[in-house]
Amino acid sequence: MFYPVAGPIGRLARSLWRPLQEYAMRVGVPRETADGESRVAIVPESVSKLAKAGLTIAVERGAGVSAHFADEAYAEAGAELVADARGDADIVCQVDPPTEADVAAMKEGAAVFSYLPHWDRPELLTALNARKLTAFSLEQIPRITRAQSMDILSSQATIAGYKAVLLAADRLPRILPMLVTAAGTLAPAKALVLGAGVAGLQAIGTAKRLGAVVEGFDVRLAAAEQIESLGATFIGRELLDEASEDRGGYAKEQAADKERKIQELVAAHAKESHFVVTTAAIPRRKAPILITEEAVKGMRPGSVIVDLAAETGGNCALTRAGEDVVVDGVTILGPRKLPATIPTHASQMFSRNVATLLLSMVEEGDLKLDFEDEVVAGCCVTHGGETRSSS
Ligand code: NAI
Repeated sequence: MFYPVAGPIGRLARSLWRPLQEYAMRVGVPRETADGESRVAIVPESVSKLAKAGLTIAVERGAGVSAHFADEAYAEAGAELVADARGDADIVCQVDPPTEADVAAMKEGAAVFSYLPHWDRPELLTALNARKLTAFSLEQIPRITRAQSMDILSSQATIAGYKAVLLAADRLPRILPMLVTAAGTLAPAKALVLGAGVAGLQAIGTAKRLGAVVEGFDVRLAAAEQIESLGATFIGRELLDEASEDRGGYAKEQAADKERKIQELVAAHAKESHFVVTTAAIPRRKAPILITEEAVKGMRPGSVIVDLAAETGGNCALTRAGEDVVVDGVTILGPRKLPATIPTHASQMFSRNVATLLLSMVEEGDLKLDFEDEVVAGCCVTHGGETRSSS
């Protein structure tokens, strides 16, 4: 800890500094406990940034180990290593939603930043309110330009889209690039990517870099240009109209006849593809079914589907979340928590997102909540014992 010069000035500064330290807000970084979780919410690089803003950072011993951030790296960055990062913390930063035990372990009135899918968790809201916790749901940060650097949906989807292609490549009985060798010419793999938001575009880019020939589809017209800018072919333009998206430019649930036409289009292109990555999602709705059972049965044996929507019901009718299914020689992967399988970079991005959000609310080492601010209002779900937003 920094103490200014010796002598009377130093003594005066120290006498002022000690009480200040006592009141410095304490940010707790616990070790994650959810199944399959290997990320950590704050990495050492962010510890330094938060400390510079006057915050004290307390990291649970071993919190970063599974993401390959050692305790020593946290200590060097200025963190205290502690056995319990929740009990004394004014602010807790964690990846997964707090459990009932996590809520009980927090100081009354503390703040918590995490994934918080509260819309289907009324009991969690009740528990948070009972302890007057101020809870921020990181997936509810508005998708506005100013908040892009705080957007965990985007950062984690980037990792998922990349990894989905690697999973497909690993399961395929063929390579992705075209190769011309003395043993003959190998044709490139054909890929189909459904849904071209953040994850889908990353999947397209990754598949292209690995040498596949890629087609992409999305119900949003704006996605067509983005798909093509990555060197892939946009399919199904004829199916799209303004009714496909809402006024904010987000996908809507499609009408039944349109949905059927999309499924026919997808079936025709999946049949010709070696692998399909599906990422289609509609916020807070069950994922749309884009690949029917018949479409799977029409695909060539040995082909692979990686369904990134598995946790919200799946884009393929045969997907089972967290499982690998093989039907007529077609492998369907329904991975859960894919970003956690690349924990160093996923944590680094998550941490930058959370630290940027937190720092936007800190003034002189204190958390100052401005509920007029679109970002604060958008992601703060409980405060002072009341639910602010559960839409
Ligand atoms: P998402 O994860 O909610 O959905 C993935 C994709 O699936 C979207 O592109 C959506 O249009 C598509 N989709 C939905 N239903 C479909 C169907 N039946 N068939 C085919 N595709 C379907 O999307 P993500 O990645 O979170 O991005 C959604 C939007 O948010 C995009 O418009 C993106 O440009 C925008 N965005 C804005 C940001 C900002 O300004 N801060 C940051 C990130 C994304």
